[in-house]
Amino acid sequence: MASIEKVGVLGCGLMGSGIAQVSAQAGFDTVVREIDQDALDRGLAAIRKSLDRAVKKERMTGDQRDEVLGRVHGTVDFGPLGDRDIVVEAVVEDLSVKEQVFGKLDELCGADTIFASNTSSLTITEMASVTERPDRFVGLHFFNPVPVMALVEVVRTGFTSDETFEAAWAFAKSVGKQPIACRDNSGFIVNRLLVPYMLDAIRAYEEGIGSIEGIDQGMRLGCGYPMGPFILGDFVGLDTLYKITEIMFDEYREKRFAPPPLLKRMVLAGHHGRKTGIGFYDYGGDEPVVSDFVKR
Ligand code: 3HC
Repeated sequence: MASIEKVGVLGCGLMGSGIAQVSAQAGFDTVVREIDQDALDRGLAAIRKSLDRAVKKERMTGDQRDEVLGRVHGTVDFGPLGDRDIVVEAVVEDLSVKEQVFGKLDELCGADTIFASNTSSLTITEMASVTERPDRFVGLHFFNPVPVMALVEVVRTGFTSDETFEAAWAFAKSVGKQPIACRDNSGFIVNRLLVPYMLDAIRAYEEGIGSIEGIDQGMRLGCGYPMGPFILGDFVGLDTLYKITEIMFDEYREKRFAPPPLLKRMVLAGHHGRKTGIGFYDYGGDEPVVSDFVKR
């Protein structure tokens, strides 16, 4: 298998933009594809903002930022992904959408191209099995914010060849991450443990055990977590968290993965966290305050 030089990223949202950024920062020529120009412009602006922050903090010069940006090629077409050595998918957490895009890529990309999914909760096997290359298919699960979080879960299925796994592992290291190996179970290692914890925090609030701020403070100050569970939920995106819980509950049929009613109500109300300006907290002012919707 040829070494990885050209990288493709499918999706330029929260995760895709971060993956494209770390790829370009590591020196890879990187094509990132979004469904329309507006979404692409938002994703590319997020990459620029993140790099600007690095320049401001003197971790990078303006010239280095421009070089990195020069290696990121945004597109709304699939065509430019055709010559990539690896394509990392980071589209919406919906199996039918992922199957559709991998089907297209399978026709377009060369036989050696490795396919990787950044799914949070779907199994890699269900995506790999719709392609003609299940042996060249892995999971590469990054964490938000991608430029900051050190971990990547590298997930192998029963189909994944040693060569593919090793190439994906080396790729994770080359973009500056610490890989860990995971079996292909819904949620892998981190979400398998993190999601029940976040859902339990919502249940604790629903049961009146503490306030949103109290529970967040408890886990920050009592356990040294960088964010409490509600701030973290808003940060990850409540729509994403809800999708993950539905998939994991469907897989395991255990109550600890079931979405609490409050989470569902918030998603239905369009209160998806930081990205919509309101989630458990309202981000409209100088400091986040607990949203009135949640308190009622
Ligand atoms: N892009 C680039 N850099 C960023 C960034 C971003 N979006 N956000 C923060 N940073 C950098 C800052 O520049 C700063 O760098 P420096 O130390 O060199 O100055 C550093 O990160 C710390 O940032 P801040 O001082 O602004 O803020 P904090 O100290 O509060 O840290 C945080 C922010 C890193 C996000 C921290 O709060 C944290 O680690 N939170 C927990 C995040 C977490 O748990 N992520 C996993 C979510 S689960 C997931 O992704 C899986 C999915 O499948 C659901």
